[in-house]
Amino acid sequence: MTFFARHWSTYRRVLDNDLMEHRALTAAVGKTIEAWLSRRDPRAPAPHLVDLGCGDLSLLPPLLRRLPLASFTGLDMNAAVLPLAAEALGPVPFPCRFLEGDLLAWAEAAPEPEQPPVDLLISSFAIHHLEGADKGRFLAGCRRRLAPGGLLLWADVFREPGESRDTYVARYSARVQGWEPLEPERRQEVIAHLSQWDHPAERELIEQEAQAAGWDWRWAWQGRHRAEALAVLRPG
Ligand SMILES: C[S@@+](CC[C@H](N)C(=O)[O-])C[C@H]1O[C@@H](n2cnc3c(N)ncnc32)[C@H](O)[C@@H]1O
Repeated sequence: MTFFARHWSTYRRVLDNDLMEHRALTAAVGKTIEAWLSRRDPRAPAPHLVDLGCGDLSLLPPLLRRLPLASFTGLDMNAAVLPLAAEALGPVPFPCRFLEGDLLAWAEAAPEPEQPPVDLLISSFAIHHLEGADKGRFLAGCRRRLAPGGLLLWADVFREPGESRDTYVARYSARVQGWEPLEPERRQEVIAHLSQWDHPAERELIEQEAQAAGWDWRWAWQGRHRAEALAVLRPG
């Protein structure tokens, strides 16, 4: 098995056993989008949706299939996941694109000529890979790229107010030790991965940064472990 295949099969098992609460999180994403749609002017054109760090789309396909979208774009830096995402979504009555790319570069790029403005931006468990000032740059870029009246749905892991990265990594690693559906070897791989790559935003600081970048911030859902959460950002 390649490194990618092993890593991805572990992540699928995390999902299938709901170890990161994808089910409740995806339900909250659906509720948020449906409420947003119901408040829109019925004459408004159908929305364009972009998923940044889409992976294989996780649990989103049933929701995406029932949304009245004008288009869907999934972007991921790992080209190997894009065919998995396309297959998971299956046939839909709106145009879809699956692009290899970096989410920060996308946020900071000028909108593509001839591409319509984006109304709904979703990013799930990807932004925490950005380090230092990059999350702020990402938020400022997305603010420029989102159409007026649009939404950014940021589903991710976050640190508690005042919590250091080391403390967060230690408590999340202790939680992973209890993930019985994974063999001990796989649990160690998850811990090694998160210890190296995860840089969750600290809740209060990122909220302030988002506000400075012109966003209104609302917590739409909180998981049971003081880590997973859904933030909904609207242009302020
Ligand atoms: C943990 S998976 C999440 C996949 C899916 N969104 C979900 O919620 O299950 C993280 C995904 O983000 C992608 N990713 C991480 N950093 C990225 C970046 N800077 N630009 C684009 N994709 C990125 C990874 O390749 C991976 O597919």
